[in-house]
Amino acid sequence: MKTDRVGTGSQGLDDLLGGGLERRAITQIYGEPASGKSTLCLMAAVACLRAGNSVVYIDTEGFSVERFTQIAGENAGALADRLYLFEPLDFAQQGTMIADAEGLLKNGHAPVGLLVMDSATALYRTELDLGREAIRKLSHHMIKLLGLAKKYDIPVLITNQIYMDVERDRVAGLGGTALEHLSKAIIRLEKKDGARRAMLRKHRSRPEGISFDFTITEDGIRTV
Ligand SMILES: Nc1ncnc2c1ncn2[C@@H]1O[C@H](COP(=O)(O)OP(=O)(O)OP(=O)(O)O)[C@@H](O)[C@H]1O
Ligand SMILES: [Mg+2]
Repeated sequence: MKTDRVGTGSQGLDDLLGGGLERRAITQIYGEPASGKSTLCLMAAVACLRAGNSVVYIDTEGFSVERFTQIAGENAGALADRLYLFEPLDFAQQGTMIADAEGLLKNGHAPVGLLVMDSATALYRTELDLGREAIRKLSHHMIKLLGLAKKYDIPVLITNQIYMDVERDRVAGLGGTALEHLSKAIIRLEKKDGARRAMLRKHRSRPEGISFDFTITEDGIRTV
């Protein structure tokens, strides 16, 4: 039997999650701009590539080859051969590319070990004036991703933007409760000056509120 956890490339994050990303489930990282969401996604992708698997990487914000290269190190070129990158430009394309990803999961040369979607809500933001209809579409995308996670026995890692919930006077993740329910593990990143904190907000088998502190470095993050 395969282990049910997949390493993230960060010991701190693995420990927080009780060993790594859970297969057959969605893990969500949310936080303010520059808090480290994409860095953690790239680290997880690189760890999976280094283990010999492929990665499906859906990037809605413009993939940074430079940052990937920094994190992947000297083997970046060879590792990138197994990174299947999708860059949807609008919300409709996001849906199409999730469907296209399934082709790779079925037929990829090296088995796909991880599916990343960074960010799941950047394009959704532009649809927000559609109200419930936008929520419905986003949920549909996430249910599709969850279906792929289950069918192909892989973890799905998504990131999410935050906004100020004025009614409750606190910041919250976009995508409403639908996205919260569909994510089995949720990590909140906080940024104070140079320091960052990753806190567990939701998990099936770990206590909420545990955290670790880190800084962002050339090759990823360093736990402090
Ligand atoms: N080589 C590097 N060395 C140190 N810090 C770096 C390096 N590259 C990027 N950073 C820092 O990483 C931060 C950005 O991290 P990242 O892109 O992971 O954030 P994010 O949460 O994905 O942001 P966004 O919401 O804008 O997508 C910035 O503070 C930047 O200064
Ligand atoms: Mg980012």
